[in-house]
Amino acid sequence: MKDRFGRTINYLRISVTDRCNLRCIYCMPEEGVLPLGHEEILRYEEIVRIVDVARELGINHIRLTGGEPLVRKDLIDLVKWIRTAGIPDISMTTNGTLLAPLVKPLKDAGLGRVNISLDTLDPEKFRRITRRGSIHDVLSGIRAAVDSGLNPVKLNMVVIAGLNSTEIQDMARLSLEMPVHVRFIEVMPIGPDPTVARDGRVTLEEIVAEVKKVGELEPVPHPDGAGPAESFKIKGGEGTVGFIAALSRPFCTECNRLRLTADGKIRPCLASDLEIDVKGILRSGQTDEEIRRLVKDAFARALELKPQAHHLASYEAQARRMCQIGG
Ligand code: 5AD
Ligand code: SF4
Repeated sequence: MKDRFGRTINYLRISVTDRCNLRCIYCMPEEGVLPLGHEEILRYEEIVRIVDVARELGINHIRLTGGEPLVRKDLIDLVKWIRTAGIPDISMTTNGTLLAPLVKPLKDAGLGRVNISLDTLDPEKFRRITRRGSIHDVLSGIRAAVDSGLNPVKLNMVVIAGLNSTEIQDMARLSLEMPVHVRFIEVMPIGPDPTVARDGRVTLEEIVAEVKKVGELEPVPHPDGAGPAESFKIKGGEGTVGFIAALSRPFCTECNRLRLTADGKIRPCLASDLEIDVKGILRSGQTDEEIRRLVKDAFARALELKPQAHHLASYEAQARRMCQIGG
């Protein structure tokens, strides 16, 4: 499918839950958010029905996100069903804490790659950023993912001044020793506390300068041929590094994605509160054929409403939180 600005849309990010076992300061408030009720969350069968229509419309890459996707029960089954529905490329964004024991069955079910959040290598700082959980579980998850042959394994570092910005070089060095793709992400003003992003901003330029202190950067093709990060190899490294700068360098012109929220709404853009309900269609009790037609219409409407660009750099507050719309 194409939107009205000519962008090809082939990527759907599906949030399977708004719950998370961590409380990262740039994403969730300490007390968490009032979780959606059981009935409000799409059932797996409902997600698969939407995926089936999406595939017909040209979606070939699906990413599972949250909250934390692995806190939802039987996620492996969902991966299997999405694979069976004919989606060739399935990925997941996870905080990694629950990943180690699940990575093999997830891969067997059809998961192709993972993005794991890792903002620091310091256990103390990990607790400060995530407010709970153990970094050791995340590191085991990363090792298990690499050992399982999932490729690429991407590590997401949200860079925040005065918190983890002194660790940019250490994180970059991980790509020297391991076949991972380390991505440095500019913190966006979409969390519970707008000051985190405003006061914590480290510009792309500053991040790149730090990484360059580790070694010379050689441009390489992006690990999966697409996505907003520009990729480089630090000379001699096993892995690669990349930069995602939604504020310094918006990638809206290359945007290829739509989102599906855990409560069944298509969201044309991360940074806009526009949403199109599909859950109501699925639960309307109409014939299968009619439902498919209406879900198709909902996607068409989402394409029509997809904004040309975001205005995140203006630091305006947003109604929905990152944890509810899925990284
Ligand atoms: N700014 C930038 N990235 C964020 N993420 C979540 N909140 C923010 C934010 N405020 C991204 C991170 C994290 C993933 C789950 O979502 O990349 O790893
Ligand atoms: Fe696409 Fe919206 Fe993200 Fe911009 S902010 S890249 S338009 S989803």
